[in-house]
Amino acid sequence: MNNKSKSNAAVRLPRAKGIDMATVYTPKECARKVKRIVLAEKNQTIVDEFITILGMKEKFEEQDVPMPNKIVMFGPPGTGKTLTAFYLAQRLDLPLILVRLDAIIHSHLGETASNVRKIFDYANGTPCVLFLDEFDALGRMRDSNDEVKEMARVVNTLLQCLDEFGGESVFVAATNLEEELDTAIWRRFDTKMTYTLPTHADRIQYIELLIGESLAGQAADLLAGCSFADIEQIMLKAKRKAIIENRALNFENIENALSEYNPRMKV
Ligand SMILES: Nc1ncnc2c1ncn2[C@@H]1O[C@H](COP(=O)(O)OP(=O)(O)OP(=O)(O)O)[C@@H](O)[C@H]1O
Ligand SMILES: [Mg+2]
Repeated sequence: MNNKSKSNAAVRLPRAKGIDMATVYTPKECARKVKRIVLAEKNQTIVDEFITILGMKEKFEEQDVPMPNKIVMFGPPGTGKTLTAFYLAQRLDLPLILVRLDAIIHSHLGETASNVRKIFDYANGTPCVLFLDEFDALGRMRDSNDEVKEMARVVNTLLQCLDEFGGESVFVAATNLEEELDTAIWRRFDTKMTYTLPTHADRIQYIELLIGESLAGQAADLLAGCSFADIEQIMLKAKRKAIIENRALNFENIENALSEYNPRMKV
């Protein structure tokens, strides 16, 4: 794997490795992305325990208890699923292999299953966090009406790959639509993480990280129902407004940014 890119930009895997369907991020690049992550307490505990367990390999082997290595995350958009994959890679000091689903799913019969196998082969041989986003697109294929046989083949390959997955790598999958996932696939994950829109306390914590303390409480009230991603966009917009007005950010900037941004809020 070539991580010696001159810039900080992620590098594409070389074709020779058989998977030009992914982007690789070094642990350092991952660390930069997760500076402002806010995790729900439950999810923070899950991640902490997961990492503790991976550090106790010998003890687990001694007691014949298998290590966890497959995480599935589900929840609404913009709540930190992808960010958590970066966070895990940073905490484990492993590269993140971010698989692009559009690159895996192939119109040629048999290609998709073979692509799935290739990326798992890679991860079995090279310690990494293998991250498959929009996982439901693969996991629901068995029910698809067209090309049923091909879809069944993809799901079966996926099941096999999950069963055989081993070594030092961790597999992480994310989906917005957990009910679309094939139950056979679902139960192969040893670790499940649920994401929700930020609570009031989460919003305060996140907004403080973005703009400091002074307006955080008020802004957190105003932005009830927003996702983290919405909040980030609104705050950026508000900051831009303050800059062009040539003064410090005020609450009105945030209100105006919200009304312009118009997120689909679920209050
Ligand atoms: N929990 C969080 N803590 C801090 N920032 C967050 C969090 N969730 C989302 N963000 C911000 O929103 C951006 C998008 O988040 P992310 O890609 O992790 O969402 P997601 O849950 O994977 O959404 P999707 O379902 O659309 O893929 C992040 O890059 C980050 O800036
Ligand atoms: Mg995502």
